[in-house]
Amino acid sequence: MRISKDAIPLSTRQRLRRLFHPAFLGSLRRTTPLSRAWGFDRGTPIDRYYIERFLAEQRRDIRGRVLEVKDTSYTDRFGTDVTERDVLDIDSGNPHATIVADLAAADHVPSDQFDCFILTQTLHLIYDTRAAIGHAYRLLRPGGTLLVTVPTVSRAAAKASRDYWRFTTPSCAMLFAEVFRREDISIAAYGNVLVSIAFLEGMALEELNAHELEANDEEFPLIVTVRAVKSAGGTSGRDRLWR
Ligand SMILES: C[S@@+](CC[C@H](N)C(=O)[O-])C[C@H]1O[C@@H](n2cnc3c(N)ncnc32)[C@H](O)[C@@H]1O
Repeated sequence: MRISKDAIPLSTRQRLRRLFHPAFLGSLRRTTPLSRAWGFDRGTPIDRYYIERFLAEQRRDIRGRVLEVKDTSYTDRFGTDVTERDVLDIDSGNPHATIVADLAAADHVPSDQFDCFILTQTLHLIYDTRAAIGHAYRLLRPGGTLLVTVPTVSRAAAKASRDYWRFTTPSCAMLFAEVFRREDISIAAYGNVLVSIAFLEGMALEELNAHELEANDEEFPLIVTVRAVKSAGGTSGRDRLWR
């Protein structure tokens, strides 16, 4: 005789599930992470796998006059036909910075200057996200491309007071469509539950295999990528919004 699953009391079903699908936490059974340095002390931080693959896929956009935050490392690695490199940073002590500005209040930086703006892992550190995206749009030349990555899952930055936000695919879609035309925006999310746990623990990229890194689960993304092009003509979402 078969027993209906509804006839089994919930707690029995839960005990059976735990019995047949045990969770072995092993060396992760601890309340402190394996690394407090994003995994740098074990190898390459896991989020860099997706950030760098995204930029490699957009090589053709990284051309002409390119702006990057903090330093020119991604412009140097992934750029093609780059004619000028600039670095934007709020930190006036950054020796690489050619433009010292708060991206959320960058009114003193002239408009329509850059063919590409590489804005990786920075927007979550800026409280006024809308203002920052507005300035990123303004700094681009018509036809220029903004390449953004933002965390969905991440530990808090050491200076926790400067780490404001985490993003999802829908929040990026809404935020960027306030400024760029919807048809000029492409958004993707990458990661899965294993990758997210490993990144929080501070495990390194080298500790996961390709199959584990490549599996995408849209309910457990680690990172969101946005490619947005400033329309060479026509009306942007920002123009529509602010007219
Ligand atoms: C975590 S790094 C990200 C950039 C780096 N290219 C990367 O991919 O890791 C964050 C950088 O953003 C800068 N930053 C933070 N808030 C900013 C703001 N409001 N305006 C401009 N730069 C800012 C920081 O000083 C730092 O150099």
